[in-house]
Amino acid sequence: MAGRKGFSTTAIHHGDPEGNDIIAPIYQTAIFKHPGGKQIRGRDLKYSREDNPTVNLLEKKMAALEGGEDCLAFSSGMAAISTLLLCQTRSGDTIVTSKEIYGATLILMRSLDKFGIKVKCVLNDRIKEEIDEKTKLVFVESITNPTLNVPDLKGIAEVCRNKGATLVVDNTFATPINLRPIEVGADYVIHSATKYLCGHNDAIAGILVGPKDGIGALWEWRRNLGGNLDPFAAFLVIRGLKTLKLRLSEQNCKAQEIAEFLEGHAKVKRVHYPGLASSPSHKRAKELMSGFGGVVSFELKDMASALRFLGGLEIIKTAPSLGGAETLITHPASSSHKNISPEERAELGITDGLLRLSVGLEDKEDLFEDLEKGLAKS
Ligand SMILES: Cc1ncc(COP(=O)(O)O)c(C=O)c1O
Repeated sequence: MAGRKGFSTTAIHHGDPEGNDIIAPIYQTAIFKHPGGKQIRGRDLKYSREDNPTVNLLEKKMAALEGGEDCLAFSSGMAAISTLLLCQTRSGDTIVTSKEIYGATLILMRSLDKFGIKVKCVLNDRIKEEIDEKTKLVFVESITNPTLNVPDLKGIAEVCRNKGATLVVDNTFATPINLRPIEVGADYVIHSATKYLCGHNDAIAGILVGPKDGIGALWEWRRNLGGNLDPFAAFLVIRGLKTLKLRLSEQNCKAQEIAEFLEGHAKVKRVHYPGLASSPSHKRAKELMSGFGGVVSFELKDMASALRFLGGLEIIKTAPSLGGAETLITHPASSSHKNISPEERAELGITDGLLRLSVGLEDKEDLFEDLEKGLAKS
């Protein structure tokens, strides 16, 4: 598609193959034949672990939506992250990572010392001072999980540039609707496409956007590690992208209203949401983002009240993940962060009464009623 088009137009039409199909087909094939006598070169279609036209279409759309040169799609967000780490680092390198990141990413980072890679895990506010000439890669999430803080992306990108480090931003919570990290200086953008990009809680997928030469090297690692995306899952994510802007517009608005409602409720001790003036990230989020996302975290008195709250809900389901049509809630201290020591949980602001709510697409009135029911039981 020629020229720079709007987000939804790009998501719906960019990269579509020529021909009569309105909906690009699913290439449900493991292999591709090639004309006899013709030598296969580079990324000529051969085997779907390497390339597949349905997956390639998703990659074209995501590169355009994140404003990057190229993209690879993976079988999960973790496949994207692990492939990037294995490709980009070697023994003797140092990684600086935020410790305010998804639990599995943090565990993976911490296991890299067996390959001789030093990993410094620090809170977002200390990242800039930890980066030096020896730093190979810096990893942050654009909105942290579950306390929803926004790091100083512009400042971190500037230090990375000065010290020659590669900046990787996991943009899963913000999505390119609310923030495009490459525009503020990131080198690579990662997504758990399982979340908002797919948007329907029915596929597991990962996305990695970055510069052409870097993605070329990563393609070699993806095909050898085998973390390529399945074409049917790619089709589902492509379908999800078409409504991403619509969904996020609604989720941004509803999450803001829910955050304000919870902040005013006598049973709620504290609300974490970058769209609230009370958030320590509010000023920075306003500068960097066009919306504050669909996830709201809030604290009840203690673990017992949090568990009673969950027991009082009818529509909102307790389940991991976020970004889909269904409103989901988690209790991080007993689920995603239960294997982290109580001291580290305290450092990360994960109290026993903390709950993380992913606002879905149900009618607002029904969600408020359900929250009221939970709070009455809490
Ligand atoms: C911010 C973030 N990054 C990465 C991942 C990993 O993605 P996946 O579950 O698709 O492997 C998750 C999963 O919850 C996540 O929340």
